Amino acid sequence: MKLLSKITEWRQIRSELTGQRIGIVPTMGYLHEGHVSLVHQAKKENDIVVLSIFVNPLQFGVNEDFSTYPRDIERDSQLAIDAGVDYIFTPEVEEMYPTPIRTNVKVNEITEMLCGASRPGHFDGVATVVMKLLQIIQPHNAYFGMKDAQQVAVIEQMVHDLNVPVYIRTCPILRESDGLAMSSRNVYLSADEREEAPILYKTLQWAVEAISQGERDVEQIVKEVAKRIELSPSSQIDYVELRQYPSLDIIQRVEGKILLALAVRMGRTRLIDNVILTV
Ligand code: PAF
Repeated sequence: MKLLSKITEWRQIRSELTGQRIGIVPTMGYLHEGHVSLVHQAKKENDIVVLSIFVNPLQFGVNEDFSTYPRDIERDSQLAIDAGVDYIFTPEVEEMYPTPIRTNVKVNEITEMLCGASRPGHFDGVATVVMKLLQIIQPHNAYFGMKDAQQVAVIEQMVHDLNVPVYIRTCPILRESDGLAMSSRNVYLSADEREEAPILYKTLQWAVEAISQGERDVEQIVKEVAKRIELSPSSQIDYVELRQYPSLDIIQRVEGKILLALAVRMGRTRLIDNVILTV
């Protein structure tokens, strides 16, 4: 495994990798098993796997956790070696944004709701950095986890609209044994919050069961999900929404491919989770 921080270093290597399939797993580091599952998938489908680690300032709001986002390159490197990563690309902010950036990628409409509503500009930052990573690494495949289902919809839209020659591959959400979706931000949870956090997935499971029993009324499901989550004293709901996927269109009745997504604040941690169903 080789650690690279300069774009020119990678460009040189890339130019010698003719005929080999390249997969990228873009991350912000502080890796967990969810990231490792993306690497495993990438290993199956490519000759070379590049893991990028870059905490992207463009996708953080002014009062968000850019400066405190957990970082541990030594631990990440060990996990990457164990998972079989060939290259870690971990540029400094100055390498990615050497001059004030005047060009950004904005995906319209589907970035305005759900996480985009409470994190204005977030998805412009994500789309811009992912586009830059795709331009730099020039992979055949790029791997993303479905915990950020809206992010996946945004990236797929961008790649489609701008004819980017890459396949977007997705992997299911990985969960702790009590159901909490794995996230680098879970380390922010206090002991009490960590104990309460599985309520999110339990409630999503309740909704899946209700839908399987024939419930189709979106307003009813959303109301009941919110009510159940509010039973946990640490939870402050940001949103609970049920929408068509991947269009993210508003729906009144559960039909077709749907996303039930939620974002909940527990203390200083903002947790997201979702389920996608085809009814
Ligand atoms: O999902 C993430 O970790 C980030 O949003 C991504 C895709 C690496 C872009 O910074």
